[in-house]
Amino acid sequence: MVALPTLPRRYHGASVWALYALGLIPAASGFYLGATGQLPGNAIKEFEHLLGIWALRFLIATLCITPIRDLFGINWIRYRRALGLLAFWYVVMHFSTYMILDKYLDFRTIIADIAKRPFITIGMAGFVMLIPLALTSNNWSIRKLGPRWNKLHKLVYVIAAAGALHFAMSVKVVGPEQMIYIALVTALLVWRLFRTRFNQWRRGPAGRPHLGRA
Ligand code: HEM
Repeated sequence: MVALPTLPRRYHGASVWALYALGLIPAASGFYLGATGQLPGNAIKEFEHLLGIWALRFLIATLCITPIRDLFGINWIRYRRALGLLAFWYVVMHFSTYMILDKYLDFRTIIADIAKRPFITIGMAGFVMLIPLALTSNNWSIRKLGPRWNKLHKLVYVIAAAGALHFAMSVKVVGPEQMIYIALVTALLVWRLFRTRFNQWRRGPAGRPHLGRA
């Protein structure tokens, strides 16, 4: 079992804010490089890709919190909301770049794209599903929705699958990069099917941990 030094409680809040700040660095640096002509090739496409890939990375990071706790006993649940919201804001920026910089707000083309290009339809579905999750990512909604909150937030599994599929379908030939993201999302979703049994096995028949610290 991994024994990481634990962060004193008084720094928990600051560490979450630090995560938000760090998480926005790729977008800020991409924007700066694009605005100063330092992005290679088609700068708009590069920026759009950067935002899309980071949205997917943050979705995956959000899904990693539970297996990290199950497998290693490390509780980073305090970072889950920030990671999920970072994924949401990256999708918002990705979508805005597509709409404004790529399509110049030509709504006819945008609507036709969403309706006719399956990979964009799937991306859009992922974005639409992320909205209620982002809106309910606060303590008030958790209290108000009770057990329904957990049910609603299970949508993140569908969103991550949609994101990985959208990525794979956005390229002509699926390469190692797309395969890695698909494999990661698949592994994280499959883990959800087995985690209850794994945790029961780990606790042992008398509820005592089999594998050290629970
Ligand atoms: C959960 C939501 C979404 C995620 C996680 C996501 C992620 C991604 C990723 C990872 C890529 C590939 C980046 C690369 O090539 O390195 C991509 C490309 C793209 N996405 Fe999304 N996306 C999402 C939603 C959307 C939405 C809502 C739209 C527009 C309606 C959109 C439009 C595009 C376009 C146009 C491309 C580029 C395709 C090209 O190479 O020309 N995405 N997205």
